[in-house]
Amino acid sequence: MSGKILSIRALEVLDSRGNPTVKCVLKTPKCTVSAIVPSGASTGKHEALELRDGGRRYGGKGVRKAVANANTALSKAITGMDCTDQEAIDLVMLELDGTTHKSKLGANAMLAVSLAACRAGAVHKGVPLYEYIRSISESETIRLPIPQLNIINSGKHAGLENDIQEHMIFPMGFKSFSEAMRAGVETYHQLKAILRKKYGAQATLLGDEGGFAPPIADVNERLTLIMDAISQAGYGKKIKLGLDCASSEFFKNGTYTLGKKSYASAELIDVYRQLSKAYPLVSIEDGMAEDDWEGWAFLTKQLGNRLQLVGDDLLVTNEARIKRAIQEKSCNALLLKVNQIGTVTESIEAANLCVAEKWNVVVSHRSGETEDDFIADLVAGLGASQSKFGAPARSDRVAKYNRLLEIEQELGRKAKFGN
Ligand code: PGA
Ligand code: ZN
Repeated sequence: MSGKILSIRALEVLDSRGNPTVKCVLKTPKCTVSAIVPSGASTGKHEALELRDGGRRYGGKGVRKAVANANTALSKAITGMDCTDQEAIDLVMLELDGTTHKSKLGANAMLAVSLAACRAGAVHKGVPLYEYIRSISESETIRLPIPQLNIINSGKHAGLENDIQEHMIFPMGFKSFSEAMRAGVETYHQLKAILRKKYGAQATLLGDEGGFAPPIADVNERLTLIMDAISQAGYGKKIKLGLDCASSEFFKNGTYTLGKKSYASAELIDVYRQLSKAYPLVSIEDGMAEDDWEGWAFLTKQLGNRLQLVGDDLLVTNEARIKRAIQEKSCNALLLKVNQIGTVTESIEAANLCVAEKWNVVVSHRSGETEDDFIADLVAGLGASQSKFGAPARSDRVAKYNRLLEIEQELGRKAKFGN
């Protein structure tokens, strides 16, 4: 049956923080599929534009303009195209928008269409979405990722300032995704019990990504509690630690401010070095701010041989910024967020650029998520070694983990896992 796109219809729905976002429903003669776009809070300033309405409605966060763009200009251009030609669909949208940051039509409008088209493409090829993504990305293999689980939330995701944003566990010493998940989940529950006992039930309230948001100011104390949880859950050396500092949020006029202390780039790198000596830290994301290229190069020179240094706000899944980072040896891993760039094709290109450089690729959610589990198929289809989908709590996060568990089961003995 022909893969001709019969119609696309966009509408305004809500994300996990109760903010409006764009959903696209796409029809072909064979299927009706849909996709919903996520949204960040600690967004990088070089990300593609998330078009919001402004004004009073939803505090300015309405997406009626983006929805209208999808229902008019994008619909007109895409209807009649073949849903199995992802590159052509994305290219038509890019040309129609014609701006560097998708500021005319909105990356949220374009991404909703791009994701939905990808889903329809898989249906028409008669393969699971992860296999379809493997084929269009020409990735070597399908792989289940090591899940980075963000179990203590702070910074913007917990309504705080001048703080490290995410404290993650990396269940690395396991043979399969489901075993790694189980260990991560048991550690999460153990941490909850520890927090409740030590600080009371208030300390187990959750932040935006499903991790606990306890009133503990000191990063060392947080990591010590996580280490206690790992050991009480019985996983000793099998679970490592990672941080997403989201440092652009606490960088101003050349200075980083954590709590009440201020640091120059080199001083902050010393803080990271100390932490990596005191704890089994394997990864630091956004250790330096989005435009502190000098700081990033120094960080990688100092710690790049022993730590994974992940560029999120630095790279914004953007080819030009990734190329600069490769050239300047700014980091050694990519955080891939589809809505930072706005199309499936460009997301795949960003991943492939990094794979060629032997960088690790971490496929990531946003702090504002939905029930859409597209990124689970994306990480598996790209064969990327890590996922970052938050804590194992709240359906906006758990939907992705459940989809990965399903993929693992579907693949059976063929399922590859981790590095
Ligand atoms: P965001 O946070 O989705 O709020 O940008 C996630 C991250 O910084 O990795
Ligand atoms: Zn980040």
